[in-house]
Amino acid sequence: MRRTLSPMRRWLERCGVHPGETVADLGAGTGLLLPWVLARVGDSGTVWMVDIDPRNLMVARLRMGGTARFAERVRWIARSAADLPEIPSRSVDLALSFGLLCCMVQKEKAVDELYRILKPGGRALVNFHCLDLPISERARALRMTRERWQRLRARAPWEPLPGLAHGRWIHTECLRKPAVARGLSPAA
Ligand SMILES: C[S@@+](CC[C@H](N)C(=O)[O-])C[C@H]1O[C@@H](n2cnc3c(N)ncnc32)[C@H](O)[C@@H]1O
Repeated sequence: MRRTLSPMRRWLERCGVHPGETVADLGAGTGLLLPWVLARVGDSGTVWMVDIDPRNLMVARLRMGGTARFAERVRWIARSAADLPEIPSRSVDLALSFGLLCCMVQKEKAVDELYRILKPGGRALVNFHCLDLPISERARALRMTRERWQRLRARAPWEPLPGLAHGRWIHTECLRKPAVARGLSPAA
């Protein structure tokens, strides 16, 4: 499927990406968003790129060709988003999950990790879609994925951030970890 960046950037703008922030892109793929996110967080920001497939991260590194000055600000993790010991608890301002949760097995663990790594007050941008399916199957698939996501989301006391419109076949949501962290475990 051909990806278009403009809605992704719009969602990111709405969620906010600020100079000096730490962003974690979980299931980062080939790093479509990386140059844009790096430009936003600037020289004092950091981006964690997480993907289970090291070949995707290799392509993402190649995309960095023109942004070498940011290179030391990018940290690469080729492993499952369900287990991220490299990323300290409460260290990330914005976590991205674009198209990750529908395609992975340990969804609960991934959502718990996402919550753990966020700072109190940190945001998560969660997106999934069913655009790869035939039109006749999309409504049912999206409904089922939404229901699953709602159960996953209920694992932690997220605060919803309003203002993101869902597309017909796309679900996009921005959430905030409460500023006074309540949650899953002492680490969260
Ligand atoms: C649909 S792609 C989305 C890629 C990217 N976020 C984007 O929007 O262009 C899903 C990505 O998640 C990665 N992935 C699948 N299971 C994963 C896991 N358990 N942990 C981390 N990444 C995973 C895949 O390798 C793939 O790159």
